[in-house]
Amino acid sequence: MSIEGLEDPLRFSKKAPPCAVVIYGANGDLTKRKLMPALYRLAFEGRLAPGFAVVGVSRTAMSNEEFRERMRESVKKFLEDSPFDEQLWVSFAQGLTYVAGDVGEPESYGVLAKHLEAVAAERQTEGNVLFYLSTQPSQYAQIAEGLGSAGLNHAPAGTSDAWRRIVIEKPFGHDLVSAGVLNSRLQAVFKERDIYRIDHYLGKETVQNIMAFRFGNGIFEPLWNRTYVDHVQITAAESIGVEGRGAYYQEAGALRDMIQNHLLQVLATVAMEPASSFTSDAVRDERAKLLRAIRIMRPDQVADNAVAGQYGPGRAGSEQVPGFRQEKGVDPRASTDTYAAVTFLVDNWRWSGVPFYIRTGKALPKRVTEIAIQFRTAPLAMFRKATAGAETIPNVLILRIQPEEGISLRFASKRPGSGMQIRPVSMDFNYGSSFGERSPSAYETLLLDAITGDATLYTRQDMVDASWTAVQPILDYWATQKFDFPNYAAGTWGPAASDEMLRRWGHEWRRP
Ligand code: BG6
Repeated sequence: MSIEGLEDPLRFSKKAPPCAVVIYGANGDLTKRKLMPALYRLAFEGRLAPGFAVVGVSRTAMSNEEFRERMRESVKKFLEDSPFDEQLWVSFAQGLTYVAGDVGEPESYGVLAKHLEAVAAERQTEGNVLFYLSTQPSQYAQIAEGLGSAGLNHAPAGTSDAWRRIVIEKPFGHDLVSAGVLNSRLQAVFKERDIYRIDHYLGKETVQNIMAFRFGNGIFEPLWNRTYVDHVQITAAESIGVEGRGAYYQEAGALRDMIQNHLLQVLATVAMEPASSFTSDAVRDERAKLLRAIRIMRPDQVADNAVAGQYGPGRAGSEQVPGFRQEKGVDPRASTDTYAAVTFLVDNWRWSGVPFYIRTGKALPKRVTEIAIQFRTAPLAMFRKATAGAETIPNVLILRIQPEEGISLRFASKRPGSGMQIRPVSMDFNYGSSFGERSPSAYETLLLDAITGDATLYTRQDMVDASWTAVQPILDYWATQKFDFPNYAAGTWGPAASDEMLRRWGHEWRRP
């Protein structure tokens, strides 16, 4: 959190300065489903300044009115648990305008510059602009350069306090090398401190709560190390398939789509050292340090420590569902991983020797994201007879990210009655029932952070490099393999090789 954030520790009580948000890809799915509902919701909460404007940019020709109408429909549809207020929409929509432009045409940036001048005068945005690139990743660098050529990367003369920031969505590159190229092209136009790489997992309330849980309490941190932790399991299971995103997904795959970014960021949040302060760089330094401590696999270690899977036809509930290769837009011979599981080791004093297992996949039995920290068992199996043969019942702390956000601690307890019967029980904290208030969506949190200039929850270039470095040997090795796909049926918990990977360590995956 920024220095201002320190005076205002309730980050969500922040109020945005005047600004214009320019959305490239304004006709796309992300704008409709996430960005516009989040901006509207921020307006609803009174977080936005009166001098606020949104400029949509995309290729489709459209009037301001048409754009507003489309956005109105999307906001109504995707607002989820919040009410839609017609009156508020009318005043919010006055700040929405649209510019048709092809990112490949240099003139389009000049047109945008003129439009922004007019918007600044009319809406009093004080020259502050947040550019949000929600386009094909292959267009990021080109757009940044286009903005630079029209002088839109810095404040106009006479408004020296005005800021210009750029937000880009993942994927940040396709591998370590392309990520480096993208970074240098972006940094040739925008300063690193003005480049906001969004990772929506870091904006999730429950992921942010990991920091509160670890560093706001005294009793857990002393146990948070190799002496007490046996292993950690991070699961991000999705029950859906690729849902019309086949073309993108078949190029990406689960390792790139989820592990390289979201789940390594989650791992870093779980495993990082406490930051010396809560400023954005101090927190990000610690995350980056942790990512750099991940052991880099040698090619001959990949087969034992990473498993790729792809779903074939199966069932989702009572419905028959097609396999990945039968999905729309997918090559029937695609060798894409729709499931990936990796054992990471962290080479530092705190975590040496503790495996961190990460798995993610599409078409699994349910949607659940959680982190399970399994502690070492008691040194003596004193109740062996009472635990139905199990040596001891391990304590597990489960940080549930979604869908039921909360924290549970599993421990052994005596069953009531005579004799000594031991059974695992759970102590539960549930967000909904404890707070009884709505959590802001990740996009609300992150958009507000970008507008207020707080980059704590955004990834920095060194973090992107470190996480690509950690997955690159796996990508390289997999590129040389001919997998026998599909190797798991839709609606099951992934390939058998994944269970095998944990068995070699004497562990097994939880069934959340
Ligand atoms: C996106 C991935 O970044 O995250 C998707 O591209 C995935 O494939 C999504 O479905 C998961 O996000 P969430 O918030 O639904 O867990």
